[in-house]
Amino acid sequence: MICLGVESSCDETALALVEDGQLTGAVLSSQTDVHTLFGGVVPELASREHYRHMGPLFDELLRRRGLEPGRITHVAVARGPGLLGSLLVGVAFAKALALGLEAKFLGVNHLHAHLLSVGISGKLSFPAIGLLVSGGHTHLYHMQSPSCCRQLGRTLDDAAGEAFDKVGKLLGLPYPGGSLIDALAKEGVADPALFPRPYLDNDNLDFSFSGLKTAVATHIKRNGRQWTKDADSLKNCCASFNLAVVDTLCVKVKRALDRHPHIRALVLAGGVASNSLLRGRMTELMRQRGGEALIPPPSLCTDNAAMIAYAGWLLHKCGCFHDLRMETIPRGRAIPDDMLRDGAWNFVTPP
Ligand code: KG4
Ligand code: ZN
Repeated sequence: MICLGVESSCDETALALVEDGQLTGAVLSSQTDVHTLFGGVVPELASREHYRHMGPLFDELLRRRGLEPGRITHVAVARGPGLLGSLLVGVAFAKALALGLEAKFLGVNHLHAHLLSVGISGKLSFPAIGLLVSGGHTHLYHMQSPSCCRQLGRTLDDAAGEAFDKVGKLLGLPYPGGSLIDALAKEGVADPALFPRPYLDNDNLDFSFSGLKTAVATHIKRNGRQWTKDADSLKNCCASFNLAVVDTLCVKVKRALDRHPHIRALVLAGGVASNSLLRGRMTELMRQRGGEALIPPPSLCTDNAAMIAYAGWLLHKCGCFHDLRMETIPRGRAIPDDMLRDGAWNFVTPP
């Protein structure tokens, strides 16, 4: 079985091949440079860039792998959530390819694919608690199987990555600010009392990060904009903000684990899962509980097509597929559980 994965939900155009569960090729074109000029992703520009790169990237992937298109047996595509115009470029490409090649077609939930991606280079086990932290989403899941991830909580406003990027902008850092804040935080000294741990005084599993961003803005205003130009102040501010986000995520993850005491695995995924403090804290949390934190390498945390191809492969193993009427689902709309099933549940945890 050769599964092609297609990803175009935001600002990365990516294609990858998974053959019998192994990643055998991947190509990616990032639009970061285009959007940096505007301080955030411009949807119309994003769709045009996907449209421009998709065909040449496909040719490049096949050339590198030495593969004839006719050997592709499955085409998996990110169907949402994401920017509608961007998603449609990938979905139209994938549907046309599946039709032309008579390949099986699978629409993949981009968020679930992030969580499942840990299986590409490591262990994936079920049941697990999944924390997805990216630029657009901060969701907690109960992961029962590749085709059954139940949402336990979500952010009510900004996503964790969005908070990183907005604070990066306030601090005068280039977009996206997350990885730079992470790097600067390592050189600074965190003051645990400087910023709040938002939205913990409740008993739910939701998040809210917009107040934390406002707290940073207030801190900058109080100290004067010039203050962000001082290297030590900047590093210390990054360390304090980074700690506040990570502490907050840890509290809700602990709460989710306490409510599901039989669960021994935590999957951490999405762009913010590259964060070094978050990776360390989640690993330690699970070690203390006698379980395991399953975290993809940083190269697989940000958007990529390997995770789409791999999720397609896993879903195929579960007997799932779509027909070409499958809808594209933009951000803000729930992704329906509309997969067709042609066999029994036969997923086996990879070694
Ligand atoms: O998953 P992703 O590539 O795209 C979305 O689907 O959103 O995540 C991108 C997000 C950005 O907000 C970026 O600032 C954040 O992940 N990010 C980080 C780090 N690396 C990327 N945030 C904190 N620490 C990092 N090391
Ligand atoms: Zn993503």
